[in-house]
Amino acid sequence: MKHHHAVLGPIAGRLAPGLSAMLALRLDAAMQKALPTLLEQQQQTVTQVAELLDAAAQQPETADLPRLDKLVRQLKQQLRDLACAQQPALRVMERVDRLFASEMAELMDATWAPKWLHAAEMRWLDKLNRDLGNYDRWQALVLDAVTDVPNARIEDVAAGAAGFLMWMAQHSPRPDLHLTASDYSLDYVKLGQAAAARAEPGGIPLAVVQRDATQLAQLAGQVDLIVCTQATHHMPPGLVARLLHQGLRAAGHGVLVIDVLRSVGALLSAATGTNLSTPAPPLMIDAMQSVRRGFLPAEFALLAHLAGARHVRADARGPAYAVLRAWL
Ligand SMILES: C[S@@+](CC[C@H](N)C(=O)[O-])C[C@H]1O[C@@H](n2cnc3c(N)ncnc32)[C@H](O)[C@@H]1O
Repeated sequence: MKHHHAVLGPIAGRLAPGLSAMLALRLDAAMQKALPTLLEQQQQTVTQVAELLDAAAQQPETADLPRLDKLVRQLKQQLRDLACAQQPALRVMERVDRLFASEMAELMDATWAPKWLHAAEMRWLDKLNRDLGNYDRWQALVLDAVTDVPNARIEDVAAGAAGFLMWMAQHSPRPDLHLTASDYSLDYVKLGQAAAARAEPGGIPLAVVQRDATQLAQLAGQVDLIVCTQATHHMPPGLVARLLHQGLRAAGHGVLVIDVLRSVGALLSAATGTNLSTPAPPLMIDAMQSVRRGFLPAEFALLAHLAGARHVRADARGPAYAVLRAWL
């Protein structure tokens, strides 16, 4: 490890949680508290969203998807307003968070980016997650979600080149699991299939297939848990609601979403994490942009309720991640 790693790591490790807690998590706590009131006050809009989500699942070609996204964004803003009502300090944080949030595309999503850059970013991201011990932490969450399900069928959607499940296939303490990784990009699917074919013997077999994460209805009865890591921040909120709505209905044990937490602390973690593990400039830029595109746990909770979940837990894990567990 280089010298600056030894200095940067501990400093960021202390600063990041503090900064997250000071800003994002205070706003998040107020939003989580306001959520039941919002759902009650806006019952009509909530019903409209539910109808649009049903239509999007059954007939995506004719469903009014722009209206769906508009209503979801409207509810998201109403939740923030409700949380900040008569709390000037929180309103300041909300304004800062609004300035900080961004929907600008990452380099990874740019259509002009060459194929090799997409493949390289996915490799760098995989290395980062391995080096930082993220896969280990995520595996614990996955195993917890299917603890009482023998031969659990788990599908990781928007899985990129299948990095996480490749790791799980080699490290899981449960050989009875049935693992599938899917992504809508054929390029990533082919990379994942090649990696699965090269895997060391002795691991769990891993299927890698092409699938759109918003077309999960066909999986009904064939999967126990839908997992989605580090991908929802690539999607507008209406699309995340569609993923949750269909995932909740397809998988008996619901969905587990893990993604970057939108917070200044996570930004610092992204900067330091990439610097320590994989100092590749495109990844460093994208890691920071991902944080600005990320969600707060309360926003995930709102989306899960809109998608029809009755059991919803959404919270921050460490300074950099938000985790959603939801089931019907
Ligand atoms: C940052 S990568 C995350 C990959 C992987 N989950 C991980 O944690 O390393 C985001 C992935 O989401 C995929 N993606 C975005 N929208 C999707 C959709 N609607 N259906 C399937 N995959 C999608 C992209 O192709 C890309 O592979």
